[in-house]
Amino acid sequence: MRLDLSSWQEVQAYLGHRTDIIIPIGSHEQHGPNGLIGTDAICPEIVARTFGERDSVMIGPTLGIGVAQHHLGFAGSVALRPTTLIAVIRDVVASLTRHGFTHVLFHNGHGGNIATVQAAFAEIYGDYSFRGEPAPTHLRLGNWFMGRRVMSLTRELYGDSNGQHATANEVALTYHAHPDQVKSVTMSPKVAPNGRFRDAADYRTRFPDGRMGSDPSRATPADGARLLEAAVEDLRDGHRDFVAGG
Ligand code: NI
Repeated sequence: MRLDLSSWQEVQAYLGHRTDIIIPIGSHEQHGPNGLIGTDAICPEIVARTFGERDSVMIGPTLGIGVAQHHLGFAGSVALRPTTLIAVIRDVVASLTRHGFTHVLFHNGHGGNIATVQAAFAEIYGDYSFRGEPAPTHLRLGNWFMGRRVMSLTRELYGDSNGQHATANEVALTYHAHPDQVKSVTMSPKVAPNGRFRDAADYRTRFPDGRMGSDPSRATPADGARLLEAAVEDLRDGHRDFVAGG
C-alpha cells in the first residue's frame, strides 16, 4: 500500500487494524559515471514499495534528499544539513504520530544519513523523556544495503569491487528499476580508489569521477532483480522484528 496513492478514508481504515508504516529515505547525489543521481532514494523506495505491495504494509513518501555535503563538488548533487534533516524527520514523525501510527521504520539507502537519522530519533525520544512521559512512537532505522541476504549476494556477484560509493549493487538495483536508464561507460581505473574525505573539494580531488572503491560497470538489471528479491526478504525480517517489539 502506498500512502500517496491512498485516500484519507483508506488510511483511516488501515489504522483501524494496524499502525505501522515504512518511510524510504535516501539522497540526491552523484553516483559516478554510470550511476543515477537518485540512486540512494530509488533503491530503498523500490524495496519498500515491493514489500508493501506483497505484505499490505503502508509505505510513506520517500525522503529523497539527505546529508551529502561531500558530493556537492559534482553537478546535480543536492544536500541537506544534518540539522535540516533532523527537523524534517521530527515533523514527519509528529504528523504520523498525530494520526495514530505507532511504528515508523525508516528504510535507508544512504550511509551518510545514518548518524543524522539516529540523532533525530534521540531528539524525538528526548522530547518525551525530558517531560517524563512515555514516547508513543517506536522508531527504527534499517539500511537496505546492510541486510544479510543483500550483503551475501553482493559478495557473490562483485566480490571486493562492490566498493563504498557508487557501488555495483546499488547501480544494479536502479537499472532493474529503470532499465531504460542503463548507461554504458568505460571506467578508468576499472576499480576506483578507496580512502577518507572531509568536504566536497577534498572528495572531488581524491575521487575524481565520484566512485569510491567500486566497479559499477559490472552492474546489470538482471543482478538488480536478484538484489531486489534479497532486499525484500531482508526488509520483511527487519519489519517483523520491529513490529514484534524486538
Ligand atoms: Ni549510494
